[in-house]
Amino acid sequence: MKFNGPTTLAVAFTVAALSGLAPRAGYAEEEGPTLAHRYCVKCHEIAPGVKPETPLNPAAPSFVTIAKDPQKFPESKIAAVLTNPHAKMEPFAFTADERQSLIAYIKGLAK
Ligand code: HEC
Repeated sequence: MKFNGPTTLAVAFTVAALSGLAPRAGYAEEEGPTLAHRYCVKCHEIAPGVKPETPLNPAAPSFVTIAKDPQKFPESKIAAVLTNPHAKMEPFAFTADERQSLIAYIKGLAK
């Protein structure tokens, strides 16, 4: 597992992942959380308590909020966000597999 972010976040995240928050889908289980940690945690709370002290954009909803409100955040909306960077995110180009891993990870947080 590779993390680019601060070690404390990596540790916090690993603990969260080990305690069962990681999705149990057919994808590489670690890919979703790893990508979220690399690209999303700068603005979003990507798992309970896993967030930057000073988010680049505090308007970003937490991933648990997104996971628990499929009416407001249907899968198509998450997929759209992953195709076109939003809210001044740095540019990225996810593969279809990476998008699926991130979506599976976020949806897994609803449990
Ligand atoms: C630079 C800050 C920033 C980064 C980085 C970022 N987001 Fe966001 N995101 C936001 C903000 C702000 C909003 C709410 C306003 C908006 O939709 O533009 C948002 C909204 C969303 C939404 C809801 C979309 C909607 O239409 O309501 C999803 C899903 C989402 N982000 C997923 C992600 C994922 C997955 C990543 C990592 C790959 C990510 N974001 C990275 C700032 C960010």
